[in-house]
Amino acid sequence: MRISGRTRLCAVIGDPIEHSLSPCIHNAAFRHLGLDYVYVAFRVRIDELGEAISGMRALGIRGLNVTMPHKIRVIDYLDRLDENARNVGAVNTILNEDGILIGYDTDGVGALNSIRTVTEDLEGKKLVVLGAGGASRAISFTLASEVGELVILNRTVSRARELAERINRATERCVRWGELSRQTLKRELEDADILINATSVGMHPNSNETPVDKELLRADLTVFDLVYNPLETRLLREARNVGAKTIDGLTMLVHQGAVSFKIWTGIEPPVDLMMKAAREELKKRSE
Ligand code: ATR
Repeated sequence: MRISGRTRLCAVIGDPIEHSLSPCIHNAAFRHLGLDYVYVAFRVRIDELGEAISGMRALGIRGLNVTMPHKIRVIDYLDRLDENARNVGAVNTILNEDGILIGYDTDGVGALNSIRTVTEDLEGKKLVVLGAGGASRAISFTLASEVGELVILNRTVSRARELAERINRATERCVRWGELSRQTLKRELEDADILINATSVGMHPNSNETPVDKELLRADLTVFDLVYNPLETRLLREARNVGAKTIDGLTMLVHQGAVSFKIWTGIEPPVDLMMKAAREELKKRSE
């Protein structure tokens, strides 16, 4: 990679940030396409967020990815939000367009494109999303408009209801909600086509946990887990064992990054290459 006086900078900000895979994913794409861009990671503490965003303006940084714990608070420092980010109430991507900072949330389209790697046609399909936190909110808004039916199940049922009602107000859809219990899961999964785990259940160090009993999984249910540590969660392993199609959290990470890449460069991202770079990097780290 040649750094010149014209090289444009993109970065991810968050805290902690040192384990981020985003630099590896984006730099692989920049290199492959011969683009004069470079991508780095900055640790930004909560009380330094405003200064970091002023720095983006002052230094002419072209794009930022924003991760925990800044996704909501960062909105206060931006000039504009795209409609989806406004609905979701969170930003994971900033574009610096000649000093105007515009916020986007690419998780929803990233999730949609991830699902499309295994199922092209979502029209009329029934989707069950587990969880009602930030991750669920980002993807449920986008997916509500793409599928025939969406049900949000959460341990704390009031959060599921709030999210469903918020989506219904903004999109005139009829998203349903319920409690994340075995009984509700049994009923809702019976005729579901796609299941997404947007809870943290199954994440390291609790990798022996799963949000869904394996008896409720079927070969014709596509199972998508946003958790990517471990890469194959217990939920995905049990889904694969019954012959279901599975989508892992790394696929999601790459696809949401690919949407950010397109926003910054205007160029179609080499998604397969980005995926390969991410998998190789994870493999290297586990050795
Ligand atoms: P994120 O931004 O990753 O979504 P979050 O906003 O803290 O993080 O949300 C975590 C989600 O995982 C929530 O839906 C949470 O359920 P509650 O709203 O009831 O807290 C869910 N979650 C976390 N631990 C869980 C567990 N042990 N069982 C079921 N759901 C769990």
